[in-house]
Amino acid sequence: MDHITNVSEYEAIAKKNLPKMVYDYYASGAEDQWTLKENLLAFSRILFRPRILIDVSTIDLSTTILGFKVSMPIMIAPTGMQKMAHPEGECATARAASAAGTIMTLSTMANSSIEEVASTGPGIRLFQLYVLKDRNLVTQLVRRAERAGYNAIALTADTPKLGRREADIKNRFTMSPSLTLKNFENLDIGKIDETNGSGLASYVAGLFDRSLSWKDVKWLQTITTLPILIKGVITAEDTRLCIQAGAAGIIVSNHGARQLDYVPATIMALEEVVKAAEGQIPVFLDGGVRRGTDVFKALALGASGVFIGRPVVFSLAAAGEAGVRKVLQMLRDELELTMALSGCCSLKEIRRDHIVAEWDAPH
Ligand code: FNR
Repeated sequence: MDHITNVSEYEAIAKKNLPKMVYDYYASGAEDQWTLKENLLAFSRILFRPRILIDVSTIDLSTTILGFKVSMPIMIAPTGMQKMAHPEGECATARAASAAGTIMTLSTMANSSIEEVASTGPGIRLFQLYVLKDRNLVTQLVRRAERAGYNAIALTADTPKLGRREADIKNRFTMSPSLTLKNFENLDIGKIDETNGSGLASYVAGLFDRSLSWKDVKWLQTITTLPILIKGVITAEDTRLCIQAGAAGIIVSNHGARQLDYVPATIMALEEVVKAAEGQIPVFLDGGVRRGTDVFKALALGASGVFIGRPVVFSLAAAGEAGVRKVLQMLRDELELTMALSGCCSLKEIRRDHIVAEWDAPH
């Protein structure tokens, strides 16, 4: 692993180590995968305006997220079924996040339970919620997350149906029979069965509540006192509705380009959301973050922090917990370097005028 010098290098190792069906599930996006490419490419449309001759002998990357002190503004997004990548799955990810002093988000669709992940030790954790048709089950999940000490709920709002991921359809994606969706163990929905196409798409079609709407955000608030982040926002209109609904924060996300294709890259949608939020609630971003420079650009556009998805599953597949630790460390080091070379000693010193975007008016 010593030869790894950047986050993106883990993908090739994961591709070599994983069965094709699993690698394709992790890597792919929806339909033409236009947004998938765009999530990465759009960062290259933003350039730096670094400031020189500023004393950067000490640099502080720490920040506060929802009132919790974290070592850096780089966090772990929810990704399902991590035991397909490594036998320790989500527990390895949780340990790596804690060791790095940052936040992990556990997916509803995990191969490790809410309680198993909590028992890995102390850590600041979010529970990602998919709202199922069976609301009793949703209430139970939320209560379990509360009892196990999770610090917030991230409500995924962009998945009334699963996006059309053609690799999963071709591969007739199904989860290995030796694994379960651990949060649903003992229920008859703990498995993803084989079908003609994507087993995951049929699973979601059968169980997820397609009627989910703004009033359900209010309903969620009646069953939990945990702060609720809304994940999957990419417009100003929905930003204002999130604030009206009492969301504690917003995650600008296109689900890693796995839902609606031809939505903009998240880094291009970010500023619209930040402006509409008017500083009332924090705005986070995920999608295509692979470099410390990407993190800096998101912060300069007003994000309070970023989340990473695929780099976690790829590094898990390559090297388990050590791989995820290394990804977090490399991103941290790169962000620190970017700050030093831009003349910023702390996150609050990162300003919009440290960058220039292709869509900005000429200076
Ligand atoms: C995801 N994502 C996701 N989101 C969510 O809310 N619940 C989930 O269970 C999953 N599962 C999942 C699995 C895999 C394999 C991927 C790649 C993504 C979306 C995820 O939280 C995040 O939005 C993106 O992964 C961010 O983009 P990058 O970092 O992968 O480019």
